[in-house]
Order: sequence, then structure tokens, then C-alpha cells
Amino acid sequence: KSLKIIEVKSEIGAGTRGASLGVDAIKIAALDFGSRFFKKHKSVEVPNENHLLLESTGSPFAKRISGILTMVERVSDEVKNTLGNNEFPIVLAGDHSTAAGTISGIKAAYPKSRLGVIWIDAHSDMHSPYTTPSGNMHGMPLAMVLDEDNTDSKVNKLDQETINYWYQLKNVGNIAPKIAYRDLVLISARDMEKPEEHLIKKHKVKNITTAEFRKRGVERTVIETMMYLDHCDLIYVSFDVDSLDPTASRGTGTPVVQGLTEREAGALMTRLITNQKVCCFEIVEVNPTLDKENQMAEHAFEILIKATNAFRNE
Ligand code: ARG
Ligand code: MN
Ligand code: MN
Ligand code: MN
Repeated sequence: KSLKIIEVKSEIGAGTRGASLGVDAIKIAALDFGSRFFKKHKSVEVPNENHLLLESTGSPFAKRISGILTMVERVSDEVKNTLGNNEFPIVLAGDHSTAAGTISGIKAAYPKSRLGVIWIDAHSDMHSPYTTPSGNMHGMPLAMVLDEDNTDSKVNKLDQETINYWYQLKNVGNIAPKIAYRDLVLISARDMEKPEEHLIKKHKVKNITTAEFRKRGVERTVIETMMYLDHCDLIYVSFDVDSLDPTASRGTGTPVVQGLTEREAGALMTRLITNQKVCCFEIVEVNPTLDKENQMAEHAFEILIKATNAFRNE
């Protein structure tokens, strides 16, 4: 199997500007390391125009939702086609809302497969427009694929247009839900709001904290995770760079203390990619405008190159 890089320069799901530059920052890091990694890649077009990033119209609870829908559908098609060509998609994206498209694409390629998700992130990204504290849709990709509104408690009041778009997002590819709570493993999630905590508790979502991961080490963490997801046919790994500790770099929109070191993340990703069920990787949320000397992009590239070398050696 060969690797196929899919780049998605999206920042329409983020609240801080600059994540769309993350992919190019990783490419610059690759050049600085003297690597030809980016010889073959495919770009998905994103409606990132400045007027869309500046406009204050639309719902405050689902900012730029129409652009998100367009982008998610395009990412889904690209991932589906890549898997259809028997290639391994590596999605390099800006803001994390793209992950809903990636998961949709995997489901579209393998509708009968049970898909497990390993979500390495400081956040659980399980908000819906009904519960979001920010309206930023990079906080919502897991709710999109879980078909989750989370209206159990007091919720934001949405207009009909937003409700329609949200419905369409949850139903991209006409499969909803695309994943089950039981098939999800969070790693290093440590900054959730009340509505997300409610879902995690209600559905007993597995969350391996940074401390637990550190105590067990990579090998035991991966064995335990794979045993927990044993009933899944395929596994998708989503890596949000804000899972890393802010001491590693400030180059991401929503940094949170008590994160992973870049070495831990590299070892974890390298170990995961060698598993036969793992069918797709995604790396998101590098924001070079917030960084110093392109540190986060360099970490992301090093993690990527370590992991993909292990993939080729399989
Ligand atoms: N929970 C917060 C929100 O919804 C932060 C989400 C951050 N998500 C991310 N992919 N960086 O606004
Ligand atoms: Mn995220
Ligand atoms: Mn995050
Ligand atoms: Mn918070």
C-alpha cells in the first residue's frame, strides 16, 4: 500500500485565524529537514475566502456552517477515492472540523465496516450547535459523526437554517451515525465543557489521560486500546497537535496544559500506524502565526515522518 497525502487548508472551523497556513508550515519544516516527503499530494479546495472569515452573519452557534458542509463533503469524496485506489490517506488539515469529512469518507468506502476512532486531542470535540460555547465548528466533528445533538440540558436556540445545515452535516453520505460511542477512544482529552462531560459520562467513553498514558507507556496503552476496539474492523487515528503540551510549542489555536511531549506523541503514532486495522491518519491544528520558529510544524513533521517510515517498513 502506498501513502497518499491529502491536504485541506481549512480554518473556517477555528476561532483564531491562521490554521489554514499549518499545512504549508509543515511543508516548510519538511524542506528544512531536507525531506522529499511532499512529492506526491492532493489538495482539497476549501471555501476560506477572507470575506467568509470576517463576516459576522450566520449563526453564532455554528460559524461558517455552509462552508463547513461543502468542505466536509469534499474531504469525504477525496478520502473515499483514496481508499478505493487502495492507498493509505494521510490527511493534513487546518482546523479539526475536517475530521468529520475524513470519517465520512472511510464509511463511504467501507459502509459495512465497523469503524473505531482513536482521538488524540486536548479536547473531545463533541459539541453540537446546541451546546457549543464558541460556535467554532472544530469543536464539533465527533458530534457530527456520532449523530449527536446533546439536547439533554439547557441548549442554544438555533434558527431553522442552522438546524437544516446541522442535519445535513450529520447525514453526509447518508449514513448516520457513522461511529458508535463504544468505538471511540480519547487520548489526553483534558479540556471539556459540561455538555461534553455529560456525554462522556452517559456513554462511558474511554478517555486515557496523559497521566495514565505516561504510567503505562506506549506499548501497554496501544495494546489496551486495540483490545478495547477489538470488535472494530477498521481504525482511524486523529491527531490534534493541541494534544501536545504548550511547552513543546504555542503554535496552535487552543493550547492546554498537561499535554503529551512530542516524543510521546511520535512513539504513539509510530506504534499505531503499524497496526493492520489502522486505515487512515489525520494531523490538524498547526497554526504557525501563533508560533516561534515554526516549532509546532516541525514537531508535526517529525511525528509524521517517524510514523510513515514505520508504515513503509511493514
Ligand atoms: N471546546 C471548545 C469549543 O468548542 C474548544 C474546541 C477546540 N477544538 C479543536 N479542534 N481545537 O470551542
Ligand atoms: Mn480537536
Ligand atoms: Mn484540540
Ligand atoms: Mn475550555
